[in-house]
Amino acid sequence: MRKESPLLRWLRWIVAVAAVLLVGFVIGWFARPTSSHVQGDGTSSQYLRKFLDEMKASNIREHLRKFTRLPHLAGTKQNLVYAEQIREEWLSFGLDSVELVPYDVLLSYPNKSQPNYISIVDQLGNEVFNTSLAEPVPDGYEGVADIIPPYSAFSPKGQPEGELVYVNYGRTEDFVQLKREMGINVTGKIVIVRYGKIFRGNKVKNAMLAGAKGIIMFSDPADYSAVGVQPYPDGWNLPGGGAQRGNVLNLNGAGDPLTPGYPAKEYTYRSNLEDGVGLPKIPVHPIGYHDAMHLLKNMGGRLPPNNWKGALNVSYSIGPGFTDTFRTQKVRMNIHTNNQVTRIYNVIGRIRGAQEPDRYVILGGHRDAWVFGAIDPMSGAAVVHETVRSAGKLLSNGWRPRRTIIFASWDAEEFGLLGSTEWAEDNAKLLQERAVAYINADSAIEGMYTLRVDCTPSLHTLVYDLTKQIASPEEGEEGVSLYDSWHKRDNWTSDRDAPRISKLGSGSDFEAYFIRLGIAAGRARYTKDRKTERYSSYPVYHSVYETFELVERFYDPTFRRLQAVAQVRGGLIFRLADSQLLPLDANEYAGSLRRYVLSIAERAEKHPEEMKMYRVTFDALFSAEENFTIAARDFHVRLQNLNRVRMVNDQLMYLERAFIDPLGLPGRPFYRHLIFAPSSHNKYAGESFPGIYDALFDIESSANQQQAWQEVKRQISIAAFTVHAAAMTLTQPGETKTTVHARILTHL
Ligand SMILES: *[C@@H]1O[C@H](CO)[C@@H](O)[C@H](O)[C@H]1NC(C)=O
Ligand SMILES: *[C@@H]1O[C@H](CO)[C@@H](O)[C@H](O)[C@H]1NC(C)=O
Ligand SMILES: *[C@@H]1O[C@H](CO)[C@@H](O)[C@H](O)[C@H]1NC(C)=O
Ligand SMILES: *[C@@H]1O[C@H](CO)[C@@H](O)[C@H](O)[C@H]1NC(C)=O
Ligand SMILES: *[C@@H]1O[C@H](CO)[C@@H](O)[C@H](O)[C@H]1NC(C)=O
Ligand SMILES: *[C@@H]1O[C@H](CO)[C@@H](O)[C@H](O)[C@H]1NC(C)=O
Ligand SMILES: [Zn+2]
Repeated sequence: MRKESPLLRWLRWIVAVAAVLLVGFVIGWFARPTSSHVQGDGTSSQYLRKFLDEMKASNIREHLRKFTRLPHLAGTKQNLVYAEQIREEWLSFGLDSVELVPYDVLLSYPNKSQPNYISIVDQLGNEVFNTSLAEPVPDGYEGVADIIPPYSAFSPKGQPEGELVYVNYGRTEDFVQLKREMGINVTGKIVIVRYGKIFRGNKVKNAMLAGAKGIIMFSDPADYSAVGVQPYPDGWNLPGGGAQRGNVLNLNGAGDPLTPGYPAKEYTYRSNLEDGVGLPKIPVHPIGYHDAMHLLKNMGGRLPPNNWKGALNVSYSIGPGFTDTFRTQKVRMNIHTNNQVTRIYNVIGRIRGAQEPDRYVILGGHRDAWVFGAIDPMSGAAVVHETVRSAGKLLSNGWRPRRTIIFASWDAEEFGLLGSTEWAEDNAKLLQERAVAYINADSAIEGMYTLRVDCTPSLHTLVYDLTKQIASPEEGEEGVSLYDSWHKRDNWTSDRDAPRISKLGSGSDFEAYFIRLGIAAGRARYTKDRKTERYSSYPVYHSVYETFELVERFYDPTFRRLQAVAQVRGGLIFRLADSQLLPLDANEYAGSLRRYVLSIAERAEKHPEEMKMYRVTFDALFSAEENFTIAARDFHVRLQNLNRVRMVNDQLMYLERAFIDPLGLPGRPFYRHLIFAPSSHNKYAGESFPGIYDALFDIESSANQQQAWQEVKRQISIAAFTVHAAAMTLTQPGETKTTVHARILTHL
């Protein structure tokens, strides 16, 4: 390198200082100048490095150990004890304020003196086989009180008796196949389905719609065992006596079933149980595969298609009922679960923003667990705890974020995202004006392979940028960035040469923030190898075997994977809270919108005759998407010579809000985001352009074709309007509509 003359260096220094001062002055137009400047954010990035480096694997281990000793189901004493402990520790870490925020919501518990089980009854009415009342307790936890047995929360009480019909995963397509191809009518039968592929509440809804009078869900080894892995405690597979707890609601974003739309405060009006949102009408119960063997082994009727067969040594015959030898036997469900309005507690901690205290960046994850919850949710809660500790450490070193950071430990997530949804309802007016982004912090690990990120498109660039600054936690990858490790392991080759990022579905606490309120949202965790590992979620999901030892012995012995997840989640909120210019990318939104428009149009074009007959066209949607792309490009060009940061930041913040339709999606008033919604057939999965998608779903079997295609047209026009309206929010405020249109036209 050529040596610089002292004069040149001096000149450069003056120019640099002048530039900093100028930028600072211009920024001061709206916010007071800070030590950081617009693009570089030099001081801020030094703090980011400190913030990331301060998070320690050994601390995360300690936090996880501490919060997984006892069961802490929502609504129990122990979960309040943990809430109080978290409040105390967050205060001692240095947060400005921490409070417990209670709500009274509908929860559901089994009756302690009248257990739930399923039996086979003979012709005399004797129960000749009963399913187990509890899971075998893992070593070291004998004598622990209050381990709730496997049950389906919010199942109604009942003792239906009848013949079994096996319906694979209980998906929409499974029930369609059962009815249309096999001609089997499940009215008055009890259906048995395997867990996996979709959210359990959707299985229950499908069974109800088909007319079943009860539904049994079992964990099949085909879906809950990895190849070559032993059942817990020798490995991390689900033992035959283990079963998956879980709620079976179809809330569609309503939160507490008795107070939809409003926070469940003491004075809040509550509807009757009969009018509660999303409560199932037929008894539901989960069992493990040892018990499932007994119910399935004597089933008669027709043989299943090959893809309906699991890994048990049974024929998976569909029924109805048992083989001739056992013809007189029936199955009876004995369900005595009670619904009960119960007090829950969110913990809300804050760091007040220095320059923009009225802008909120939220990191939230739940605390309530089915039993010990070492993966779900405490791996996530331990990560948040360490993030809070690290932020507190920076505060004591003189740092203060530009914007306000809110940390939340939600309650009753397992009962339908209740704590997070009630708080969103309670604070909706503030949040829709002030929230910049919401980062979710449920389970931080579900596999041992690589990073998994689901987020709104405007966060893509930040996620990529940040993961380049974090080290890979994998052994033998010293000096490799998390980004490179992730890229190599999950290359998103279909769209671009970058690691895969997916759409947000639901099934965790970001739902009300993203899909109801339109706040930019994302989540990150460590995951399995999607190419080779076929099992659903992780094998011991929602069982008693989610212990500290499971994580320590199998998932993350060095706790470096959890550390990496802490750095991703923490880094996201740091950058969102502390960057002068919000790190949100409208161009990425435009790119994703383009892919979604192409994909939904392709779906419709599978019906060329109908498209012609009913004059259905996607022209308006393509036009809106084009307008959006141009507005986004223009917007980011304007950012190059930026003068009013607060104004463009507001445009970025409100971009997500612009996709909200106050009327919501058809039949789902709390799902208001027009671009993303949980799939109507699987709450866990995200669907893009959900209104159009649902209108097109199985449209060929719709009785009134004319009406069905009118609905497609209506949905296309709503989507086109909304995307165009969102594009307009990115244009320069103060410009007249005509000049905006003229500019868009000149680009075309
Ligand atoms: C639980 O079961 C017992 C015994 O059958 C019964 O007396 C009691 O009323 C039940 N509790 C509730 C809350 O239903
Ligand atoms: C099943 O449980 C019922 C009720 O407790 C009992 O009467 C019956 O004997 C049990 N059957 C078997 C096979 O254990
Ligand atoms: C199914 O069976 C029920 C009761 O047996 C009957 O009312 C109903 O019409 C049947 N449905 C179909 C589609 O055949
Ligand atoms: C599967 O079940 C059949 C019939 O019950 C039995 O004969 C066979 O040994 C079983 N196979 C295995 C691998 O357990
Ligand atoms: C990702 O896939 C693309 C296309 O196949 C390839 O060119 C690129 O090298 C891959 N990247 C990594 C990191 O494996
Ligand atoms: C896109 O912008 C052009 C030019 O302003 C306008 O004529 C057109 O209606 C817009 N498209 C939609 C769907 O609003
Ligand atoms: Zn969870």
